[in-house]
Amino acid sequence: MNADSTAPLPAEKTDFMVFPLALLRINKIMHFEIYLWNPKQQEHVLFCGKNLKFTDEVKDRLLDNGVSEIHVRDSEQHAFSHYVEDNLTAILDDPAVKPEQKADLLYLSLTGVIEDVMMDPRAGNVVPRSKRIVENTCKFIYEQRNALEFMMRVCSFDYYTYTHSVNVFVFAMALGARVFPKEEVMDDYGMGALLHDVGKSRIPDEILNCKGRLTDEQFVIMKKHPEYGFEILQEKDGISPLALDMVLHHHERIQGGGYPDNLSGDQICREVRCLTIADIFDALTTRRSYKEQMNSFHALKLMRDEMADHIDPDLFRIFVQLISDPGARK
Ligand SMILES: [Fe+2]
Ligand SMILES: [Fe+2]
Repeated sequence: MNADSTAPLPAEKTDFMVFPLALLRINKIMHFEIYLWNPKQQEHVLFCGKNLKFTDEVKDRLLDNGVSEIHVRDSEQHAFSHYVEDNLTAILDDPAVKPEQKADLLYLSLTGVIEDVMMDPRAGNVVPRSKRIVENTCKFIYEQRNALEFMMRVCSFDYYTYTHSVNVFVFAMALGARVFPKEEVMDDYGMGALLHDVGKSRIPDEILNCKGRLTDEQFVIMKKHPEYGFEILQEKDGISPLALDMVLHHHERIQGGGYPDNLSGDQICREVRCLTIADIFDALTTRRSYKEQMNSFHALKLMRDEMADHIDPDLFRIFVQLISDPGARK
């Protein structure tokens, strides 16, 4: 890398994401450009082009010049999130990266994984990529104090299929961490939560991104997504029966009347019940084109008062404690 190859950015409007310098790994190639902020000129300056290796020497020089942040163009988010995903274990283990920065980077790479999965759920790397990021999330949640608090703070409030999947995964992992022993189910359970809506990849965009409420006909199609998800994942190696159960049954209701199998009570396992709570909570607390976002307090109140037939009351009580005090450990 030529650290002197700085050039002012062309005048057109460009948005940037800001990240800690500490996340960059030594001797790893970066498939994105890095900019620095020049406070004197109030402008971004190109520091290094794509496909270059970050070295100890360059890092030291930046640190000597008081640089602690790098800027990456929004348009390169995909390449950047791949880089973070590929180096996630090392980044999460690095004490130089602050916990809140780790949560931010973890959320970014989770979103990148889900975007790719939704785009091409049949790709051969869906299971290994998902497994790796679930393991990294588990490790972060169990080893980092206040990890869930940091993760919940970075959850997006705007609803997109992929941010919904990531948010639900975060809430489900948070609840799961209080309910299940880590070794038993966290990996399979995490896979089920992360991929729970993968069947939406087969739902037409005009229904998925519908600006208003769905018509009855559209809703019939939308309700097929758990079965589609089951079909997609069933064909893959390395997906456990538990994860498949979670994908297929996350819209069942504790007192019956859900879909696709109209299960109730003990027919719905606890992992699925946890996922259902996380799924409903995220749907209520995110903003859609046809509805404002509800705050956590009102969402929990509505779930308690009007959706008691949907959800397990004991698990819901734990979820309420969790949302009220995400920093507390089980
Ligand atoms: Fe769903
Ligand atoms: Fe969902």
